[in-house]
Amino acid sequence: MKKKIALVTGANKGIGKKISIELMNSGIYVIGTATTEVGINNIKKKLKNQGTSILINFIDISITKKTIKKLINKYKTIDIFVHNAGIINDNLLITMPDIKWNHVIDVNLSSIFYITKIIIPAMIKQKYGRIIVISSIISCIGQKGQTNYAASKSGLIGFSKSLALEVASRGITVNLVSPGYILTDMTRKILSSKKKEILNKIPMERFGTPQDVANVVSFLSSKQSSYITGQNIHVNGGMYVDLAT
Ligand SMILES: NC(=O)c1ccc[n+]([C@@H]2O[C@H](COP(=O)([O-])OP(=O)(O)OC[C@H]3O[C@@H](n4cnc5c(N)ncnc54)[C@H](OP(=O)(O)O)[C@@H]3O)[C@@H](O)[C@H]2O)c1
Repeated sequence: MKKKIALVTGANKGIGKKISIELMNSGIYVIGTATTEVGINNIKKKLKNQGTSILINFIDISITKKTIKKLINKYKTIDIFVHNAGIINDNLLITMPDIKWNHVIDVNLSSIFYITKIIIPAMIKQKYGRIIVISSIISCIGQKGQTNYAASKSGLIGFSKSLALEVASRGITVNLVSPGYILTDMTRKILSSKKKEILNKIPMERFGTPQDVANVVSFLSSKQSSYITGQNIHVNGGMYVDLAT
């Protein structure tokens, strides 16, 4: 049987790296993206002959589109798309420069529109697909200094739920995973400077690991999750418990 193919954005480090390894270990061929040559070499080394990597920076929309089109021409279909890449660029709204707003929205949110538009026709044709989107607890609770980040991550929720409805009858599921505080390069500084204060807000009294997130992504990527779509799964040690996610 043909191996399933997954595209994982931001696969060089943190959560995306663990997701890639987890999917590779489940027998999936993984194509990971990175923004640097060093990053794409790191991914290739990690995945060995079970995957590959491509250079993409979502700031450049036209190159992003070209690269994903090339990918589809080469592989014909992507079975699993994990939209993980994301950035923060914090500022209180009152002094936030336009560039910080646009940058975060482009990388975190607009990129999924451009990529999904290119890969979804082949998923529809084969009547199978898994789209897993990494949002954030911040999309639901907000955070001072993160109007840009929170808007991008809430945007992903609206995008994913709507898309889930559009493609549900085609064997394609679209779900989100919303991490709480996970120890990665993105959070290392704040998690060490405000360790006690943040831990006090987490009922499980520990930060999450990239593996905690990768486990859920792996399940949502599998056939076992075939009746779940349009859902937002929180992975936060109980920090945010919502009745209607
Ligand atoms: N860590 C947390 O506590 C936490 C909580 C909630 C949600 N999340 C979300 O989880 C996802 C992964 O975060 P992380 O903690 O693993 O962060 P990370 O270690 O900083 O990794 C971010 C990834 O995004 C990629 N990326 C950054 N700018 C990009 C651009 N312009 N174009 C394309 N790719 C770009 C990076 O690629 P390079 O390696 O090439 O730089 C990197 O692989 C993000 O969407 C984040 O918002 C994280």
